[in-house]
Amino acid sequence: MTTDEVTDLLTEAYIDELETVMNYLTNAIVLDGVHAEEVKESLETDVDEELEHARLLGNRLKQLDHSPPGSESFEARQSSLQPPEDTTDVQSVIDGVLEAEEEAMETYRSLLEAAEEANDPVTEDVAVTILADEEAHHTEFRGFKKEFPQD
Ligand SMILES: [Fe+2]
Ligand SMILES: [Fe+2]
Repeated sequence: MTTDEVTDLLTEAYIDELETVMNYLTNAIVLDGVHAEEVKESLETDVDEELEHARLLGNRLKQLDHSPPGSESFEARQSSLQPPEDTTDVQSVIDGVLEAEEEAMETYRSLLEAAEEANDPVTEDVAVTILADEEAHHTEFRGFKKEFPQD
């Protein structure tokens, strides 16, 4: 069993993951400076994990007899993750990542709740699996923020 709320949230999350892939990849490429290296490396690793999240969500949609969306339904939302004009402004990327991960965690909590209500334990499992990864990403970047020299 599932509901429209579940498939809508799966679709929204799929699009968000792909936007995250684009912005993490871009920032991993553009950042400069002595403080950037670890953040860039972490973003590189996360690109693969976020792409895997999209794959899990898309496959779940397929199992529920829905199709994941193509790019025409894409609406960009991550304004705080746009590559900074000053490419040494690592702090702004860290803040953007924290915001994106917090939003993702919220989405997966909503998905978990909706799947519970719909008596759809397989989607619940997908939501918990991804939520655990997003919490780990958030913790890592919270650490970067603590360590980062304040101006
Ligand atoms: Fe993700
Ligand atoms: Fe993440």
